[in-house]
Amino acid sequence: MTARIIDGKAIAADLRARVAGEVARVKRDHGLTPGLAVVLVGNDPASEVYVRSKHKQAQAAGMGSFEHKLPADVAQDDLLALIAELNRDPAVHGILVQLPLPKTLHTETIINAIDPAKDVDGLHPNNAGRLAGGFAALAPCTPLGCIILSKSVHASLEGLNAIVIGRSNLVGRPLLQLLLNENATVTIAHSRSRELAKLCAQADLIYAAVGRPEMVRGDWIKPGATVIDVGINRLPTADGKTRLVGDVAFTEAAKVAGAITPVPGGVGQMTVACLLVNTLRAACAIAGLVKPAV
Ligand code: GUN
Repeated sequence: MTARIIDGKAIAADLRARVAGEVARVKRDHGLTPGLAVVLVGNDPASEVYVRSKHKQAQAAGMGSFEHKLPADVAQDDLLALIAELNRDPAVHGILVQLPLPKTLHTETIINAIDPAKDVDGLHPNNAGRLAGGFAALAPCTPLGCIILSKSVHASLEGLNAIVIGRSNLVGRPLLQLLLNENATVTIAHSRSRELAKLCAQADLIYAAVGRPEMVRGDWIKPGATVIDVGINRLPTADGKTRLVGDVAFTEAAKVAGAITPVPGGVGQMTVACLLVNTLRAACAIAGLVKPAV
């Protein structure tokens, strides 16, 4: 079998176009311009690339886009003051503080300072708790993207056996909750799980989000399963450059799986598109409008 390649790039482009359509509608009908503020502390090159992409894509969707760059040695109180200002700013409906933060800053304190109504990363305990309780919540963008990609293959995830490998607050844990909302049967595994290969062999849906290059092997996968690779690992090449690989050994896996996401061109594109969705949804909720069509 050769797996169908799930085209995250095309699916994300379609989602961004639908967000742009809804942004135009709320502007026209309600005079509302959804606004996203992204805060970057320090100059980690990968984070800079992500933040630039978020900024550009928010603008392209017709949103307000506000970028705040702070030095790596910023005082925690100064960062908290900026967040308080963004919480009050009526032009800002979504606030994202790019992670990881420098070690001198206390990530939990920073995230807790974000107004939960503007927490488009879905990381504030109010949103994480609401999601875990099965209530309406802003959910983290990467897991939202994983669900959309899965549904591009399966009309319904109901009753399917899913395994999530990874238990981070950004991906693994919220993905577990979103899959439960879809009525999937979910196993959550992680770096300390035993017999991962055996666990994967049961799964119709495999989500790899452990941050270990090419850890999931072809012979772990049930023939025909759908494989969603969340990993973005940079490996050095012989010529001194780097190449991106996922958490799944793609070439092997693509011979067994029914459908698989590539890296790059899979989940990564969806994260930013879902950030736009969350910003639009947050703006409509704050303005008291009905939930948008995306
Ligand atoms: N760093 C890598 N991915 C993310 C994300 O989705 N949100 C934030 N805030 N930081 C990240």
